[in-house]
Amino acid sequence: MIIIAPSILSADFAKLGQEVREVEAGGADWIHVDVMDGHFVPNITLGPPIVQAIRPHTSLPLDVHLMIEQPERYIADFVKAGADYVTVHAEVCPHLHRVVHQIKELGAKAGVAINPGTPAHVLQEVLPDLDLVLVMTVNPGFGGQAFIERTVNKIRQIREWAEQSGQADLHIEVDGGITAETAPLVATAGANVLVAGSAVYGQADRAAAIAGIRSSVS
Ligand code: DX5
Ligand code: ZN
Repeated sequence: MIIIAPSILSADFAKLGQEVREVEAGGADWIHVDVMDGHFVPNITLGPPIVQAIRPHTSLPLDVHLMIEQPERYIADFVKAGADYVTVHAEVCPHLHRVVHQIKELGAKAGVAINPGTPAHVLQEVLPDLDLVLVMTVNPGFGGQAFIERTVNKIRQIREWAEQSGQADLHIEVDGGITAETAPLVATAGANVLVAGSAVYGQADRAAAIAGIRSSVS
């Protein structure tokens, strides 16, 4: 089953509650929340108060993607605010194993993200503990960038490792440049969670946009 997670980065922040309700009604499976700190990535977005504010507007899982340095300082705040999935970047976690367990001990599902320039093998030692791997298909920081096709090899590799170790339920998420054109490439390689920012929120008819992505992979 393919999970479609619209990213609110491309939503209208002045009416976030309505924007979240609209994609839930339009068939979204998760809500993807992009947190940026102006250090790890060259953009600043939102923090736990916004997660808390949108929480009552949807019953869908909130998938919080932390593009921040020292994420261990903020994980508890995001879980308390209502995050269901918390994903940290491998590039900023010298103690990746510790951070993954911190997320799980707080009762959330744990994810680790890797940038296009980061090899898949950095995940190997923590993979059995993960609920989700996020393979970035653009360099994080902004919505609306072009899909980087070489990242598809990493999706295939990670899905293979998961199958070999009997981790059939590992979510492999992709984020960046996902459209009805690129979705089949990543889904064929083994991705099952598709984040879409501009391809959903950039369209007037969000339900049609979600349906278009879904039908491209089914
Ligand atoms: C990129 C963010 C994405 C972004 C994707 O740094 O992590 O979630 O919203 O936007 P699109 O789908 O427009 O590439
Ligand atoms: Zn994201």
